[in-house]
Amino acid sequence: MRTLICGSIAYDNIMVFPDHFKNHILPEKIHVLNVAFLVPEMRREFGGCAGNIAYNLKMLGGEPVMMATVGDDIQPYRERFEQLGLDQSNVLHVKDTFTAQAFITTDLDDNQITAFHPGAMNFSHLNSVHDAKNVQLGIIAPDGRDGMLQHALEFHQNGIPFIFDPGQGLPMYNGDELTDFIDKADYVAVNDYEGQLLQERTGLTLEAIAQKTKALIVTLGAQGSTIYTDGQQIDIPSVKPQDIVDPTGCGDAYRAGLLYGIAHDMDWQTTGRLGSLMGALKIAHRGGQNHSFTRDMINQLYFDHFGNRIF
Ligand SMILES: Nc1ncnc2c1ncn2[C@@H]1O[C@H](COP(=O)(O)OP(=O)(O)OP(=O)(O)O)[C@@H](O)[C@H]1O
Ligand SMILES: [Mg+2]
Repeated sequence: MRTLICGSIAYDNIMVFPDHFKNHILPEKIHVLNVAFLVPEMRREFGGCAGNIAYNLKMLGGEPVMMATVGDDIQPYRERFEQLGLDQSNVLHVKDTFTAQAFITTDLDDNQITAFHPGAMNFSHLNSVHDAKNVQLGIIAPDGRDGMLQHALEFHQNGIPFIFDPGQGLPMYNGDELTDFIDKADYVAVNDYEGQLLQERTGLTLEAIAQKTKALIVTLGAQGSTIYTDGQQIDIPSVKPQDIVDPTGCGDAYRAGLLYGIAHDMDWQTTGRLGSLMGALKIAHRGGQNHSFTRDMINQLYFDHFGNRIF
């Protein structure tokens, strides 16, 4: 089932400062802050929610179609999409912009100083869901403010079921706007923190949000996840990871499992378990897209953990 993944495509530039920020940021001089950190180690990861979700869904054997806006520096990412066989027909180049990117400097205490440049992502409304061909399912992951609103409207107009996945984009919207997203969406997926904020902004409880949708999925990190559907609450345990290296992108990996399960009409228990497995496979690797598994491997791992095969 062709699944439209609306969201960001981004680079994550990660630099490690081999010292402690606290040795260089002097509290009494904070009003004239001017610091430069020498960072011998730097890496650039392929990221962005749409890129990550599409990567994971393709690994599962799904049919992701990304919808995103990117800048003049996209060529290395395009080559990767090509290699992975990912559909780029709705990835729009916005001239004279940079692709969205984060610049993350980490010190030896794991403190982080991050700058995020949205760049082309802020033009996501230039893409229209109406232009995506033969799509039967979708997701709206964090993206430009106007784009997320517009894509929700367009999915709704076209009668295409979609997951509303506001993520770090959630604070951009007021209660009425969020309620409207929920009303248009068939599914809502949030983490624990976002679930709290969503309740505060909309004045709706999790149960009330669930009632407006086919399912509300709340992920809880190492605690697993809960799926609220049909007046029931299904608790999905987490899968013990091989190693805990980097939680970035676990949410996106989980969502790929959700989309695969929905597209293949699996029950919620199975769908949640697949998301859970994908999150655990991701966390053992650095970055959002450096874990690599064949469908056979995923099938075997699912069997090892849950006692039945999924594919
Ligand atoms: N430490 C962990 N051990 C096992 N599974 C994990 C762990 N952390 C995350 N997961 C799996 O990944 C899912 C999503 O993680 P989480 O709730 O942290 O999402 P998130 O906060 O949106 O993450 P991010 O936005 O950083 O990608 C969890 O429901 C769980 O199944
Ligand atoms: Mg998240």
